[in-house]
Amino acid sequence: MLVLLKPNYDELSAEAARIVAHAVRSNPLITMGLATGSTTIGMYAELARLHREEALDFSNVTTFNLDEYLGLSPEHPQSFHFFMRENFFSKINADLEKIHIPDGKIPGNYEDYCASYEQAIRQAGGIDLQILGIGRNGHIGFNEPASSLGSRTRLKALTRETIEDNRKFFAPGEEVPQCAITMGIGTILEARKILILARGPAKAQAVAQAIEGPLTASLTASALQLHPEVTFVLDEAAASQLKQQDYYRRVMHLTARLTPERLS
Ligand code: F6R
Repeated sequence: MLVLLKPNYDELSAEAARIVAHAVRSNPLITMGLATGSTTIGMYAELARLHREEALDFSNVTTFNLDEYLGLSPEHPQSFHFFMRENFFSKINADLEKIHIPDGKIPGNYEDYCASYEQAIRQAGGIDLQILGIGRNGHIGFNEPASSLGSRTRLKALTRETIEDNRKFFAPGEEVPQCAITMGIGTILEARKILILARGPAKAQAVAQAIEGPLTASLTASALQLHPEVTFVLDEAAASQLKQQDYYRRVMHLTARLTPERLS
């Protein structure tokens, strides 16, 4: 795992966008897995700027979002469809035919629907670059604690902690969804490369456990230890509980000198 430590959120976002932009320029037909959440907003804004000012072309990019709340329509302001449109897709030259986000309004038959989402990923040739955030409880996607490390896209009940974390985004009194459709840990681990972002002190413990703790379904981000190409991009606060910070800094400098391609 490569752990990139950045002094603040702006630099974290710029670094993440630089890595994504490099991947898109290297392979304009890339298939990307996308995350929502407040952490990703700066990266999407920078990617939109690179599109506007430096002609970064997304017209041949295929995307699969990680998750969507069950019960929310694409027009609901807290839906991940809405988030993606507002923060990214409306600001770049995305081909809407190549964008995939789980449907929060499926009336039932979840297993068939989720199997078809997995099938669409396979048909697209698999995910080349998966972007992730991390929850306070260490979830990636909505793979809450005790999710199988082999799990695939499925309907998942959210923990109280996740529901409370998300309540602030909903109108007072509005019901926060209890469930989501999410890619599984097994789905995520099949991506060829993974980029995971974390910002702020609330994430410090989960980040330390994911990188330095034991591999456990109780903290699903720890499953990333199994993947050969994972890059964490962290701001100082999110990195603050890592025991090996000095080592990660040395690795960062040595990688820049010896194998700079690993940083792109
Ligand atoms: C979002 C997702 C979640 C978030 C995580 C962090 O699509 O899958 O795992 O990445 O909950 O969210 P923020 O960035 O809002 O703290």
